[in-house]
Amino acid sequence: MSALFGSPADVGARLAETGYLADEAITTTVFLADALGKPLLVEGPAGVGKTELAKAVAAATGAELVRLQCYEGLDEPRALYEWNYKKQLLRIQAASAGTGEQGWDSLQTDIFTEEFLLERPLLAAIRRAEPTVLLIDETDKADIEVEGLLLEVLSDFQVTIPELGTVTAVRRPFVVLTSNAARELSEALKRRCLYLHLDYPAPEREREIVLARVPGIEAALAERIVDTVGTLRGLEIKKAPSIAETIDWAHTLLALGVTELDEAAVGRTLGVVLKHVSDQTRAVKELGLPDR
Ligand SMILES: Nc1ncnc2c1ncn2[C@@H]1O[C@H](COP(=O)(O)OP(=O)(O)OP(=O)(O)O)[C@@H](O)[C@H]1O
Ligand SMILES: [Mg+2]
Repeated sequence: MSALFGSPADVGARLAETGYLADEAITTTVFLADALGKPLLVEGPAGVGKTELAKAVAAATGAELVRLQCYEGLDEPRALYEWNYKKQLLRIQAASAGTGEQGWDSLQTDIFTEEFLLERPLLAAIRRAEPTVLLIDETDKADIEVEGLLLEVLSDFQVTIPELGTVTAVRRPFVVLTSNAARELSEALKRRCLYLHLDYPAPEREREIVLARVPGIEAALAERIVDTVGTLRGLEIKKAPSIAETIDWAHTLLALGVTELDEAAVGRTLGVVLKHVSDQTRAVKELGLPDR
């Protein structure tokens, strides 16, 4: 396997070129995951840059992103591969309509071929010869059985299709699994991964992220936004605003032409950062904002 990155510093510089600003814990873990050929499990609250990290690694290395979005009910045929039954059926009908009798044996070898295979993200990522980032997003949303499948695939990077044989990765994809920790992932799966916990960044870093993501925003306003978001995170609320909300807020204020984040401006745009009525009520009270 050829490594994508030369050093943790190289990871940092190349991610930064894509607009993703990573601290040392991130760059080191990404570097090691690449160097050791291990999947990277990224855990943390919503909107802190888990999914974006995988996208940034792909962009930074010119790799293609193959994404498996996990959800309740995701099963093997959707994650790995399935046979195109409709097409197979048509082939059988065509065969019997045309030449009349066709031997079952020859038909069977005929309809379980590449032509009738529907490749899903896991198989697609394993078969690609070009650099690939496999993003297994929101792993904790999938049922526990999917973890068994992931374990199998991520242990050997191979898949056995009974009718076609075993497919082994010619080039291991860089694998990123993300989780909100809605439920604990199995120890067996964790053991195979390098683990990275992402949290809200330091104010200084978050300001840089806002400046990088929201062109045209004034540095002083960015600082005020980040400070205010920091204060909101300190309140006892249901859903603390994430980096995503900080960026949205900056976009909103820019669009409204607001240059000063005074109490009126905060009150007017609070819905961009706080998405629960009870959180908004609390913020209005604690920050002494004008009643809306
Ligand atoms: N370190 C960073 N540098 C630049 N932008 C960042 C960074 N972290 C997060 N972002 C921004 O925050 C947004 C939200 O990130 P992302 O969608 O990756 O969150 P997430 O952790 O996957 O959230 P969820 O758990 O809800 O899926 C991204 O669109 C990205 O612009
Ligand atoms: Mg995400």
